[in-house]
Amino acid sequence: MKKYFLLAELSIIGLLIGISACTHTPEDMASPTTNQINPPFDTISCDSSNVSYPGTVQPILDVYCISCHSGPVPAGGSNLTVYSDVAFLAQSGLLLGAIKHLEGFQPMPQGGDKLAACEIALIEKWINDTTFVLPPDTTDCDTNLVTYAGTVYPIFQANCLSCHAPPAPEAGIDLTNYSNVAFLAQTGALLGAISHNEGFSPMPKNAPPLTSCEIQQIEKWINDTTFIPGGGGGIPCDPDTVYFQNEILPLLLSSCGIAGCHDPITAEEDIVLTSYYYVMQSGVVVPGQPWESEMYEAITDFDPEKRMPPEPAAPLNSDQINKIYTWIAQGALNNHCEQLDCDSVNVSFSETIFPIIQNSCYGCHSGPSPNGGISLETFNDVVAVGSVPSGSPGSLLGAITATAGNTPMPYNAPTLSDCNIAQIRKWIEDGMPAN
Ligand code: HEC
Ligand code: HEC
Ligand code: HEC
Repeated sequence: MKKYFLLAELSIIGLLIGISACTHTPEDMASPTTNQINPPFDTISCDSSNVSYPGTVQPILDVYCISCHSGPVPAGGSNLTVYSDVAFLAQSGLLLGAIKHLEGFQPMPQGGDKLAACEIALIEKWINDTTFVLPPDTTDCDTNLVTYAGTVYPIFQANCLSCHAPPAPEAGIDLTNYSNVAFLAQTGALLGAISHNEGFSPMPKNAPPLTSCEIQQIEKWINDTTFIPGGGGGIPCDPDTVYFQNEILPLLLSSCGIAGCHDPITAEEDIVLTSYYYVMQSGVVVPGQPWESEMYEAITDFDPEKRMPPEPAAPLNSDQINKIYTWIAQGALNNHCEQLDCDSVNVSFSETIFPIIQNSCYGCHSGPSPNGGISLETFNDVVAVGSVPSGSPGSLLGAITATAGNTPMPYNAPTLSDCNIAQIRKWIEDGMPAN
């Protein structure tokens, strides 16, 4: 909505300037504050063979831009008499977007005529030919006392929450939600996006990058924090909540997102179930409404032809079905938690070990032709792999701890949590009781 107002305002300003321009005398038009006067270059011959910052770019900015973009309070916070400010804008794409009047950018010079095509071409040539180095931060950058609440979150508040906050955060990324942030931090997307690394969308979007100090502080926080794989970055697990990364994703990866079914290559019925992003994009989940969600319908279908996972795989058990129901009912969030109260002392096969296997391994290691020829359907099956020492083919412990000589399990998926690995180790050390 705001955008339309802005456009309307700009076109009114443009109209006013247009009208008043008609009444200008030639002397007025020669005044140095109007735009299309004394172009610093011969815009007809447009020689781009010798483009430099002091010789080409700065003279153009001096004529058209610094009336607003200089002094103690430069427009938009950008002082275009200062090289590092210009480099910032050039490097982030803002400078070119603004002078080319590309969609999504503030057309510059504000309220004035577009620069001549030649002037734009010269600036573009300079941008393309220049390797920009982020200006070194001359202010003291304190990375000694970096905390999430005191350092990182305030940076988000100032630069990101306009887009990344409820009720409809951009790209589903809610930076007011710690576990969301922890997840992005841990996957590298957070640092990739703010550092404008290749392969990531540069953030903040359509705005100058964060200062190098802010980037350093966020990087320090990421490096100093232990993010639990597939887990929570410090959010303790609440027994009444079902967490996507901890409980739903492993189940999907072992029972649905497998080769020949819903992995990105096969994508049966265009449904891919190997990450939160794909799950939501496939449209099989309606947050808050399990009964409207194709995923829930498919796992509870009475018709064995339609039921997922299809025969010969066994249907999900009622505990797994309940988890998916609850996760969807709780809003189908991309959430994680950390098992802070891990009990790796009192472990039993039925209460501890088999649920882990069912959740993370069963889909691939059951039925008439289990993966790797290894079935994990029964107590005896699990004891058989549990008896094999780490590093030898077919070792349960070797596979879940990614020991040399074993293929890391679960296959192509995040490792089990430290807690689950400790529990399996303890059960094996106890002599694999049938408890
Ligand atoms: C009449 C004053 C004025 C002139 C002349 C002017 N600007 Fe701006 N410029 C502004 C204001 C005000 C903003 C901040 C706009 C906003 O944030 O809504 C701005 C913002 C910008 C931005 C940020 C754009 C964005 O999308 O966030 C760039 C880049 C820019 N100007 C470049 C230039 C260049 C290059 C020139 C000369 C070719 C120029 N400006 C001339 C007033 C001006
Ligand atoms: C003007 C709105 C806007 C602002 C401000 C913004 N973002 Fe984004 N962000 C988006 C959109 C839209 C996407 C989806 C990708 C795209 O369209 O480029 C996104 C995607 C992302 C991604 C995923 C990038 C990837 O390549 O996987 C991260 C991480 C992110 N934003 C973090 C941030 C952070 C951190 C800030 C503040 C420093 C921020 N964003 C500011 C709109 C914004
Ligand atoms: C997505 C399917 C899939 C999932 C999920 C999966 N596996 Fe496997 N597993 C395989 C495949 C495929 C092989 C054969 C790999 C090979 O031989 O390189 C295999 C092999 C193994 C082996 C033998 C490894 C070796 O080095 O000899 C063990 C033990 C094993 N899996 C246990 C598990 C356990 C325990 C889990 C759950 C924590 C699990 N698997 C989850 C597909 C899967």
